[in-house]
Amino acid sequence: MSNNKTVIVTGGSGGIGSEICRHLAKVSWNIVVHYHSDKDSADEIVARLTGTGGKAVAVKCNLSDEQEVTGLFDSAISEFGEIQGVVACAGIGGGGPIAETTLDEFQKLLRVNTVGAYLTIREAARRIERGGRIVFISSQLAERPREGTGLYSASKAAIDAMIVSMSRELGNRQITINSVRPGATEPGMFANSNEERKEFFRQLSPFHRLGRPDDIAGVVEFLLSDEARWMTGQHLRVDGGASN
Ligand SMILES: NC(=O)c1ccc[n+]([C@@H]2O[C@H](COP(=O)([O-])OP(=O)(O)OC[C@H]3O[C@@H](n4cnc5c(N)ncnc54)[C@H](OP(=O)(O)O)[C@@H]3O)[C@@H](O)[C@H]2O)c1
Repeated sequence: MSNNKTVIVTGGSGGIGSEICRHLAKVSWNIVVHYHSDKDSADEIVARLTGTGGKAVAVKCNLSDEQEVTGLFDSAISEFGEIQGVVACAGIGGGGPIAETTLDEFQKLLRVNTVGAYLTIREAARRIERGGRIVFISSQLAERPREGTGLYSASKAAIDAMIVSMSRELGNRQITINSVRPGATEPGMFANSNEERKEFFRQLSPFHRLGRPDDIAGVVEFLLSDEARWMTGQHLRVDGGASN
């Protein structure tokens, strides 16, 4: 079943990441399911993927630690050989009205969403094969910040800016790098929001519903496919039209 292509999915243990793993395994990618603390979920995802004939391993990593990120890529290479795809999906939410936030909250968001994603895509730029694919899971809030999302929006927008610059740097190796900007999606981190907030985001979309991980994973699958070879440095809104 393997197509001998390997992808690292950071945040593979989470709501959106696990669905990305499932989609990519279906089209025969070998999957490195990264997790940070939730080993049980990562093991369960690996069991599901290998149970249907796929190849997958779970690897723990603190993505804000340079050595650990190097180790994540080393593990992937020693398990499967070369790496052709990296999906930087790990992230956390948080924030509130800026006047009420703390420096600690901002530093935590920057550590995971910005430094973690930077170290992941930097390592990808160093180690990914010619013709490879890099996808960053950003957020519609990077493009369209709303009240109380300033810190989170900033933590994602910084990487979206890097992606444009990197697309110019990686083109000579035929590597594409793009970001996907989901709207409110559940299950995943948005599941913890209260009903009033969920209803607000439901009504922002002309489809009057929240996104599902499956809505996001299909677009990531496309970006990793050969059909997306002519797209790079793009930010794709995948938010059910909520930001229109
Ligand atoms: N859900 C939404 O509405 C939504 C909307 C727009 C964008 N996004 C983005 O989509 C991505 C996935 O979100 P989700 O909804 O699937 O959230 P989720 O279910 O909470 O998953 C988050 C993932 O990030 C990992 N993670 C958390 N803290 C980490 C840390 N310090 N170091 C390394 N990894 C860490 C988690 O690993 P462990 O569980 O193993 O600790 C988990 O795999 C995030 O980047 C998020 O910003 C989500």
